Amino acid sequence: MVETAVQAKAADLIKAASFVVVLTGAGVSQESGVPTFRGKDGLWDKYDVTTLATLDAFIGDPEYVWKWYDYRRNLLTSVRPNEGHYALTRLEDWCSSHGKEFSLVTQNIDDLHRVAGSKRIYEIHGNIWQVKCLNACTNKIYEMRESPLGKIPPECPDCNGILRPNIVWFGEMLDPFVIHSVEADLLECDLLFTVGTSTTVYPAASFPLTIRSRGHPVIEINVEETEFTPLATLFIKGLSGHSLPGIVDLLS
Ligand code: OAD
Repeated sequence: MVETAVQAKAADLIKAASFVVVLTGAGVSQESGVPTFRGKDGLWDKYDVTTLATLDAFIGDPEYVWKWYDYRRNLLTSVRPNEGHYALTRLEDWCSSHGKEFSLVTQNIDDLHRVAGSKRIYEIHGNIWQVKCLNACTNKIYEMRESPLGKIPPECPDCNGILRPNIVWFGEMLDPFVIHSVEADLLECDLLFTVGTSTTVYPAASFPLTIRSRGHPVIEINVEETEFTPLATLFIKGLSGHSLPGIVDLLS
């Protein structure tokens, strides 16, 4: 199918749905200049996950891990949302004005969906601008926008311990409140988009499988096929910053 025909089919599926959930991954921010994790020039090709994205690594050398996050935070200060992020905001608005439910589940920690104006967002892997105490002294989550950081590692204002990024590292549990809310939405969802994700990291990788197993459509948008593609109802091969606006334009 040529892209416009697939986009028209995607728009028809949105019109027929009552609860649309969109799952996004690093590919959505790629056109904003944020590197993805896997594939060509992916972060995990250049850096070792085990020394940067695990609790053990952080406890072993908080300064080293914080320097990496400080560097990534600094890069993000000059990054803006792209047409894909804005199209998802328009899709949310369109759904709410047409009596449909909508939620956005993102694995991204870069905050760009929020900056673009999306409202019902679940950041299942956390947010790079948030921090929390390593000792969990109060269980508070603080927003910390200072970039570059004046002091590394930053200090907890309550107990003077170390603050850590509010990011879910490998081997850690997702926030139970967040995942419970996502699961509740997935139970109601009758159309799922999976956009710019390799669908390799669980639990997010299971979401499209769950929706397909319930007999509902899943539309995948990606620049290349993934392991999930053979099961997708529609596969739209292309840049999310191009494909998503094209679909949303067809709704009005
Ligand atoms: P990946 O880097 O694994 O996958 C990015 C996907 O986006 C790939 O399938 C690309 O083909 C696709 N892609 C790249 N550019 C695109 C574009 N402009 N438009 C559409 N698709 C594009 O990123 P995620 O799937 O998000 O976790 O990775 C999941 C998790 O693994 C991340 O949240 C992170 C990482 O380790 C943590 O840090 C906990």
